[in-house]
Amino acid sequence: MQTSDRLRPLTGTGQKWPRRLLPLETLNYEHLRQKCLCNLLGRIVDDLYASDTIKSAAWALDYLENVLPLHVSDETEDLVPRLLEHDAADEAVGKACRALVHEHESDGLLAAKIKVGLELLSRARPLPRPLDFIVDVLTFEENLRRHVAWENAEFLPLARHRLASEDLSSLGSAMARRHGLF
Ligand SMILES: [Fe+2]
Ligand SMILES: [Fe+2]
Repeated sequence: MQTSDRLRPLTGTGQKWPRRLLPLETLNYEHLRQKCLCNLLGRIVDDLYASDTIKSAAWALDYLENVLPLHVSDETEDLVPRLLEHDAADEAVGKACRALVHEHESDGLLAAKIKVGLELLSRARPLPRPLDFIVDVLTFEENLRRHVAWENAEFLPLARHRLASEDLSSLGSAMARRHGLF
């Protein structure tokens, strides 16, 4: 099963899926998987030629290509606009939203670079510049760990405090649509 498949509803089971998600809890859950991604990336660069590198690189590549972009869109396209709409004049909200968008952009640039190396490793191909790859991966890992810790400690609590229940409800619906849950 591809990583992205875990976010899709099972078919043929008669299971009823919720029409919306608990949005902040869902974002928080995804942060746990991002910590797993960081652990895996650290393991890959610890020994590029380990026996499980091909599988690990394939999983990390799938996550970066298919799952992380959805999470970034959940936050950037759904959560941030609702926060800004709700508290347009609040400087703390504006500053936090700008920081979040900026970090997504810089992480995205680095993710694009390391995906090239992960794709080669997933096919047991040699890296042209392994040291550059290792430095990029370690930088991405450090940035993502810091980003996730900040979102968990500050950004999500800010959103929980500022958004009304109707905002959370529409946010959950928008995220469920993006993840194909209805
Ligand atoms: Fe984020
Ligand atoms: Fe996040």
